Formats: sequence, C-alpha cells, structure tokens
Amino acid sequence: MKRIGILTAGGDCPGLNAVIRVVTKAAHQGGMEVIGIEDGYLGLVEGRMKCLTPDDVSGILTQGGTILGACNKTNPAAHRVKMEGQWVVRDMRDEIVARCADAGIEAMVVIGGDGTMAGAALLIERGLNVVGVPKTIDNDLWSTDVTFGYDTAMTTAAEALDKVHTTASSHHRIMVVELMGRYAGWLTLGAGVASGADVILIPEIPFRLEAVAEKCVFRSRHGRRFTVIAVGEGAAPAGGKVIVDHVDESSAEPIRLGGVGRYVADAVEKLTGIESRAMVLGHVQRGGIPTPQDRLLATSFGHHAFELLSTGWLNRIVVQRNGVIDSVPIREVAGRIRTVPLDHHLIRAARGIGTSFGE
Ligand code: F6P
Repeated sequence: MKRIGILTAGGDCPGLNAVIRVVTKAAHQGGMEVIGIEDGYLGLVEGRMKCLTPDDVSGILTQGGTILGACNKTNPAAHRVKMEGQWVVRDMRDEIVARCADAGIEAMVVIGGDGTMAGAALLIERGLNVVGVPKTIDNDLWSTDVTFGYDTAMTTAAEALDKVHTTASSHHRIMVVELMGRYAGWLTLGAGVASGADVILIPEIPFRLEAVAEKCVFRSRHGRRFTVIAVGEGAAPAGGKVIVDHVDESSAEPIRLGGVGRYVADAVEKLTGIESRAMVLGHVQRGGIPTPQDRLLATSFGHHAFELLSTGWLNRIVVQRNGVIDSVPIREVAGRIRTVPLDHHLIRAARGIGTSFGE
C-alpha cells in the first residue's frame, strides 16, 4: 500500500492521539503516506482530509482528545441533514468510497467504539478497506477484554469518588455520583470498587431504592454516618426504565442518558431522612492526559492495526484477549456491546466486603 487514511469517530477519549502517532510514524517508516480525516465520519462525508507527517504527530503521545477532531453523530449509511426544517436521511457510502479512491486511499484505520464499527461494516460492504482500533471510556466493545480510554476515565472517576468521600464524611451526608458508561457498568464498577464506594449501581443489576436506603440507614446505625453511592448513567430501578437526559435528533444514536443520580439522591433522602447530594461527573471522564497504561494499550493497538494493513489482513479490528493482542472480523463486533457479567470477580469481591448493589 502507498497511502492510507485514519479517522477518530464516536466520543473522544484519552489515547486517540497515541494511536494516530504510532500509525503515522510506522506507515512513514514503511514508505506509506497517511491522510488524516477530520471529525470522524462527518469529515469523510464532507471530504475534509489532510496529510499527516511524522512531524505533525510528534509530541502528541501524552495529549488527550484527538488532533483530528471527533464526531459521535454521523452514520455513513444514514447521514442526517436538516433541509427546510425536516431531517433528511441520506446514504453517503458510495460517495465516501469514491472520494477515498480519488484521494488514493487504499485502506482506512478507523478508531472507534461499537457505533463506529457498525459504520465501518457498512462501508466495507461498499468496498472500502478498513482496519478497526477499539476505543471508548465505556469499555463495552464486544470481542475485546479492554479498550483504551477506559483506564484513564476510570482513574478520573475513582479520584472524584475519593474526594467526595471526605466531604460526605465531614457533613454526614449521602453523596450520589453519576458516572458515564452508557448501558454497561464497567466504569462505575471499576471506579466504585477502586474508591471503596458503599453502594454501586450498574445497568446490569436493576436496583431497589428501598435496598439502597436500608444500606444508608444500616451504616448510620453502625457509626458510619455517611454513604457514597456510585451510579452508572444507564442504571435503572427494577421494573423501571433508564433515565434519558435528552434526545439529539441530529445524531444517528440520538439517546443521551442522564439524571439517575438526581433520581436516586432525591428518593433516598425521602426514604432515610438523611441529607443527600447528587453530582454528575460528566465529560471530565473523557478528558485529560492518558494514563501510561492507556498509552501502552493505544500504542500496541495502533501498531497492530498497521501490521494488519501492511500484510493485507483487512476488515478486521484489533482486540486484546487474555493479555494477547489479536484481531477479529469487524462484522463480528459491529453494533454489539459487552456488558459486565454478573459473576464478574469485582462484583464478587465487592459483595464479599459488604458493598451494596441495591438488590
Ligand atoms: O460513549 C462515550 C460516552 O461518553 C458515554 O459514556 C456517554 O453516554 C456518551 O458518550 C455521551 O455523549 P455526548 O458526548 O454526546 O454527550
């Protein structure tokens, strides 16, 4: 191959720049040119591309975000545009494939999560060569044990819970911290266990408000006059629904979750009589410099993607299973998510020390 493209789609996360760096440097060493696409699939639709040289990617290993920009709204097969006040959905795949061919791009490194890989699978159907690299703070991509971005986000979330702990204790309050993660509880479980949260509510385990309240009262009676509750944005009460913050009509995946932290704090205050506060950690979880662990993972993933490309092993996504870097066909992971198994060792360990999952 003489020329490859690279893009970062979906929500950003720490470690994206580390992948762009390794792919660009390795490609140039192998005599290839690299074209960076701006803002993920949106840039592909709009034809926004620029050449990436080793100089362009020098010094970005430790930078959060992505030098290419990202967009978590565009699906190449169902691009939404507003025309005369109406949303119109257009299949842009043939245009994209033709544009890449005109630009001499022989294969595209697509860095993203489940939605991005679903988009990649649709482009592969129309003839684009793709290699996928899994990223997301949610850690919920099917087929890989881990995605880069998760470790940094989990560290940020754990640090926030640690800080909330001290003020909860001083004021004898219930503090509810809502974390990201969509429909998977990896981020909340990891950060919750790492910071010793007293209650951890995740989407995989429907909760009962009465059980959460009982835990708070039990702690109070036993001299622990505060409770820290970590709740994933996709957690829901048994028999209830997830709480939606808003619907983004411009997005191919329009549901944005949010609000469960407030819901839990209000209900538990009523049930217990203990003063409660809710906070939403929000996008701070997606920011900051990647942890060394995420830099290593992103660099290994990116380099493996380059090896797949240069050996013609196409339309696959890099994964890590049992500590080994490998790859699987993109169509196997497209649009599928990996949730926390109910017998996960962290759930067992947390239960073993009395942490409540609100059951
Ligand atoms: O998938 C990453 C993520 O941060 C989710 O955890 C969260 O639900 C969503 O993206 C937020 O999306 P947006 O940036 O559009 O608010």
